[in-house]
Amino acid sequence: MRAVDIIARKRDGQTLTTEEIGFFVNGYVRGEIPDYQAAAWLMAVVLRGMDARETADLTLAMATSGRTLSLRSVAPVVADKHSSGGVGDKTTLVVAPLVAAAGLPVGKMSGRGLGFTGGTLDKLESIPGFEVSLSVDRFIAQVARCGVAISGQTAELAPADGLFYELRNATATVPSIPLIASSIMSKKLAAGADVIVLDVKVGRGAFMKDLGSARRLAELMVDVGRRAGRRVVAVLASMDQPLGYAVGNSLEVAEAVEALRGRGPADLRAHCVVLAAHMLLLGGCARDLSGARELARETLRSGRALARLREMVECQGGDPRVVDDPWAVLPRAPIVVPVAAPREGYVAGLDAEKVGLATLLLGAGRERKGAPIDHRVGVVLHKKVGDRVRPGEPLFTVHAADEASLHRATEEVLAAYSWSGYPVRRPRLVRGVIGAEAAISSE
Ligand code: URA
Repeated sequence: MRAVDIIARKRDGQTLTTEEIGFFVNGYVRGEIPDYQAAAWLMAVVLRGMDARETADLTLAMATSGRTLSLRSVAPVVADKHSSGGVGDKTTLVVAPLVAAAGLPVGKMSGRGLGFTGGTLDKLESIPGFEVSLSVDRFIAQVARCGVAISGQTAELAPADGLFYELRNATATVPSIPLIASSIMSKKLAAGADVIVLDVKVGRGAFMKDLGSARRLAELMVDVGRRAGRRVVAVLASMDQPLGYAVGNSLEVAEAVEALRGRGPADLRAHCVVLAAHMLLLGGCARDLSGARELARETLRSGRALARLREMVECQGGDPRVVDDPWAVLPRAPIVVPVAAPREGYVAGLDAEKVGLATLLLGAGRERKGAPIDHRVGVVLHKKVGDRVRPGEPLFTVHAADEASLHRATEEVLAAYSWSGYPVRRPRLVRGVIGAEAAISSE
């Protein structure tokens, strides 16, 4: 087999065999296939696509390119979730302890933020002392002991994805549904969870800007997961406006703690309950979705979910007081300025991408991989789509490190709002669920 022939076959729109895909992935990881051939092949995949079988083969080849975890020694079923990335998306901080407290262990490997989307690890690192780089052995031990662990993706798992992802970033080959699906699912499969709930974001603040592409990505990921013997459901969730009110690392941790107290923004709490319910149902903790929802709500109400966050923070070396009084320990920005509404009316739109860019300008995100971030800064929205705004009411508050970034971010967030003189309906957050029926009937 020769790499050049495999590239040519994909260039000509042919379907690759399992052996050809395995040969290419393993050859690249071993350094036998050079970057220029891998880049040409990736571009051929972007332009010609891959069918579901090819995507599953690519995913499995990447998933098995390094160590693969088995969590069977920890519990009969372990759950994981994945968000395809958004603005203000702090659901993992709520859902992971919530599901664990409801009786289903959660082992989750997360990533860092890039561009205008935030990353769970960066949020957790706002908590003083919190350790996100767990070794594989410590990760497994913590899932066993505490029922929940959130750690950074280790280089030992799915190394092919790390190598391909870097090359894709440098060769304009990121936007391909089969490549994104295999990249996400290879890491999930290698991390060993039996139950995987995918939160696929769609809209202005997401990778997938339209519902059709988000649905195709979700269907492909569910299909790949099923072929690998995992129970997978994907929730399609709107990311036209940020989730919740807070955008920025410590601000989002504080908001997640509020949600675990059963308070905080209604859209965030509702979405966390939806995701947790699907995890609990797939994990066999409830008979149907409404029972799973009720279990999730009751776990929140009882305070068990919040208590589980405290245990997780303690296990990972963080200051547990963050759970009782977040602002006693979280870093705060030196400049905090509320911004008044420029007009009255109803909020018709709130562009998540612009709000994300504003927080990037403040220093809450990174434009380059590895760049430092400021955990203190961000934006807290006070009005979202459908809200009525009276003149002079505070619209949002900016938390900044200096005056220059305060002004730039303020302009950007003001530009994110669009207005109507008439009442506007609040948008639906969940736009669809993929794979729920099949997953339930296969139980
Ligand atoms: N997230 C990933 O992990 N991989 C992609 O290709 C895109 C988003």
